[in-house]
Amino acid sequence: MAPPSRLLPPALRILHRCRASTRSRFSTAASSLFSPPSKAVVYDEHGPPEQVLKVADVPPVEVGGRDVCVRMLAAPINPSDINRVEGVYPVRPPLPAAVGGYEGVGQVHALGPAVTAPLSLGDWVIPSPPSFGTWQTHIVKHESVWHKVRDDVPMEYAATVTVNPLTALRMLQDFVKLNSGDSIVQNGATSIVGQCVIQLAKVQGIHTINIIRDRPGSEEAKDKLKQLGADEVFTESQLNIKDVKSLLGALPVPALGFNCVGGNAASLILKFLRQGGTMVTYGGMSKRPVTVPTSYFIFKDISLRGFWLQKWMNSDKAEDCRIMIDYLLGLVHEGKLKYEMESIPFGEFSLALEKAMGKHGSQPKQVIRF
Ligand SMILES: NC(=O)c1ccc[n+]([C@@H]2O[C@H](COP(=O)([O-])OP(=O)(O)OC[C@H]3O[C@@H](n4cnc5c(N)ncnc54)[C@H](OP(=O)(O)O)[C@@H]3O)[C@@H](O)[C@H]2O)c1
Repeated sequence: MAPPSRLLPPALRILHRCRASTRSRFSTAASSLFSPPSKAVVYDEHGPPEQVLKVADVPPVEVGGRDVCVRMLAAPINPSDINRVEGVYPVRPPLPAAVGGYEGVGQVHALGPAVTAPLSLGDWVIPSPPSFGTWQTHIVKHESVWHKVRDDVPMEYAATVTVNPLTALRMLQDFVKLNSGDSIVQNGATSIVGQCVIQLAKVQGIHTINIIRDRPGSEEAKDKLKQLGADEVFTESQLNIKDVKSLLGALPVPALGFNCVGGNAASLILKFLRQGGTMVTYGGMSKRPVTVPTSYFIFKDISLRGFWLQKWMNSDKAEDCRIMIDYLLGLVHEGKLKYEMESIPFGEFSLALEKAMGKHGSQPKQVIRF
């Protein structure tokens, strides 16, 4: 039996009550199946993640009739996860006792008695569309949340396939019709989204012009991106010239650019774009605004657009999302999609968080292994 909630610390009592209320819709009177006790990374208030996040014990949760209990295997720390904890992301889990994380992969641990989805114990599943609370060792959610994924790829890929690779895939399709032989330009090219853009574009025969920031290790980063298929990689300082297009050689001038940095790095995208080109902003890593010279509107007729995966997924795209995830994991399996990650045991969450927040310099994507 689960311990009575009055025995829990206040924050976990609320967590316990929230879970009991969401699950009661699915419980059967006879059900007495419970998840194992869990550990979760929780926060009761918004603020600097290193101050407000803590690892807490979570009591067993009842597995209702159509619920699935999943033992988490791995979950990443994405920039948006950090923004949610800080309280600056527009959609966030309710406080207190919010559990961090938004995507990840786990293994089916127990099935409620009325589950109809074709799931078996041990299957790998991801929440799809992603949902709050993946930084915990066991999760109980309705069967409709879970999407079974292939288990013949490294678990870190299954854990990270949704937020960043799917963003890259959508942005290549949703704004400008691209044909084989075209080129696109992007900044933040070392990010997971950036690495995926390079490889997904290459699958379609599209060239990529990539901008990275000047930092220790930028020459090595350039080589790595070229190995992934990048046509050109420039540091921002290399583009401090009047005619950046003269650097393109035989590459066509791009009609589409992706900006996840802002500030000067966004201005460099605009410099590369051709007449009537479109810049899509999907992130703001430098925390600096995008400023556009008036002349770009008048003489180049530039369009500025934005992309937010969460909005795209909310618009009735759950099934499409799953089809694309299967496609992306297929590319991973074929060796056509890879990106740098560092897997860190759950016990070292604080170190992973510091690395994800840039406190140890540039680091690969941090993936927590449970
Ligand atoms: N709109 C959406 O739906 C959506 C979806 C997914 C991701 N995103 C956004 O996409 C961006 C990339 O996400 P990710 O998870 O792929 O990134 P990531 O793998 O965690 O990598 C972080 C990236 O940000 C760069 N960076 C970090 N601090 C920076 C700074 N102060 N100035 C300039 N660049 C900096 C890093 O460059 P170095 O290699 O030089 O350290 C690296 O390229 C984020 O802004 C994220 O929020 C948006």
